[in-house]
Amino acid sequence: MMAPMRPVIIAANWKMHTTPEDAGELAATIAARSGEPGVVRVVCPPFVCLAAVREALAGTGIAVGAQNLHHEIAGPFTGEVSAPMLAGLATWVILGHSERRRDAAETDALIGRKLGRAVEAGLRPILCVGEQLTEREAGRAEAVVSAQVTGCLGDHDPDALTAAGLVVAYEPVWAIGTGRNARGADAAAMAGLIRRTAAGLGWGDSAERLPVLYGGSVTAVNIGEFLAEPSIDGALVGGASLKPDEMAGIVGRAAVTARARLAAGGS
Ligand code: PGA
Repeated sequence: MMAPMRPVIIAANWKMHTTPEDAGELAATIAARSGEPGVVRVVCPPFVCLAAVREALAGTGIAVGAQNLHHEIAGPFTGEVSAPMLAGLATWVILGHSERRRDAAETDALIGRKLGRAVEAGLRPILCVGEQLTEREAGRAEAVVSAQVTGCLGDHDPDALTAAGLVVAYEPVWAIGTGRNARGADAAAMAGLIRRTAAGLGWGDSAERLPVLYGGSVTAVNIGEFLAEPSIDGALVGGASLKPDEMAGIVGRAAVTARARLAAGGS
């Protein structure tokens, strides 16, 4: 059986940067510099900038994503944003980012509920998983990541998540915002583990179609190391995603992989 051809995806996580005033211009500049239709491109600005970014990216082929959503649809949850509220503003959503696990005490069970809300609302989820440095040093990285995948996906119907286009981002916590990226081979091993874990949860052959991204200090210089790994399907980019030059380089390199996959007609 020929391995399935997975898309190449570059997602920009702007975190708590930009304002409604300047986000549209930054998005438009990035779009003008990274027009590679063979690469699935997503920009995830803060909630308050979604409308401006959506307007700026209309017609560019670049999708808009949110960085989080609440696990309930509506109710007495001051300051929160639910999945249905994102209708018309975003088509993707990042869930379970390590900064939210750290600062908002998000657990795998809670992230699993958010995943359900995203799927119901027709949002394409990017689920983030990844180990802490102490966990890696203790030789527990695989066990931690596998438990996160199981804890977040375990209660869901694999077919529903596949239909929703679920993407998993492997983001070792020690590599996020530190300038210290993982090695391509280590990230590739984790991508394999993530798919094997999904297969064990009833995904079967669909696990081979699950896109897995790497995230953590990705730049235009190191993106090639990750995309050289057939099991890695792109990147979730933080700091560098606010810099149009970096994004042009990252998306340009991703386009090389996308063309190679298309030519090979397989993975
Ligand atoms: P970074 O962030 O690229 O700034 O390390 C990645 C992320 O947190 O998604």
